[in-house]
Amino acid sequence: MLNIAVRAARAAGDIIVRAADRVDLLNITVKSRNDFVSEVDRQAEHEIVSILQKAYPGHAVLGEEYGAQGPESSEYVWVIDPLDGTTNFLHGFPQFAVSIGLFYRGKIERGVVYDPIKQELFTAARGQGATLNNRRLRVTKQNGMTGALLGTGIPFKDQSYLDAYLGMLKDLLRDAAGIRRAGSAALDLAYVAAGRFDGFWEIGLNVWDMAAGVLLVQEAGGIVTDLEGGSRHFETGSIVCGNPKLHAPMLELIKPHLTDDLRNRTAG
Ligand code: IPD
Ligand code: CA
Ligand code: CA
Repeated sequence: MLNIAVRAARAAGDIIVRAADRVDLLNITVKSRNDFVSEVDRQAEHEIVSILQKAYPGHAVLGEEYGAQGPESSEYVWVIDPLDGTTNFLHGFPQFAVSIGLFYRGKIERGVVYDPIKQELFTAARGQGATLNNRRLRVTKQNGMTGALLGTGIPFKDQSYLDAYLGMLKDLLRDAAGIRRAGSAALDLAYVAAGRFDGFWEIGLNVWDMAAGVLLVQEAGGIVTDLEGGSRHFETGSIVCGNPKLHAPMLELIKPHLTDDLRNRTAG
């Protein structure tokens, strides 16, 4: 199944790369405030879904652009973000990826994140580790916040929790060595798995942004939770992750800024 996911991710990556130097010619629609979609997102998802459905006609799929397809009763659900980092893509900012995750009975089992510009293929299979271009991945050994490099996502669509987020940012920024907002949650997670980031947090994600990346981090030895330290990251759309020595200090700095609204959020 991982091989099929890799094939689908590479095929979508080819579509994205071919379009990357002519973004000015693309048909772009605004889904909601600051949320854009191009024909490339749709073509890439179409390609992924057709490869997956051909190989596994009995499996269900859930894609960002076309929603749920296939048998509802299936215990297998492929969760697809055909182009994570659309805003970057549309601006020619080379940080975006294809993300494909496979859930079995509600548990993430396989994950692929593919950066078609850098040709970096991140894969994970539950219990079998995570790799980047076939090299085994491990999270960092960074102990605590001093010296840590963190990734994050700054709210740009729903800004109702902006003040709470800025409070967290301020506290984490004060203690860490640096914070980056690169613009693709799937790659942010892959970078934690690869030891490029020591940790990452974001609020307001959807399951397709996170599915594959979460497994990458876990299989590389990292810890993934929601904002409260629980395991409702897919349900809430909020995520905190890092190596085992950094995750708890991150949560401690985030906790004072939690509001009832953040505790009760559900992913869109
Ligand atoms: C977005 C990216 C971004 C994150 C947003 C996502 P999209 O995905 O992952 O980094 O901050 O919350 O929606 O819309 O480009 O697929
Ligand atoms: Ca996304
Ligand atoms: Ca997307």
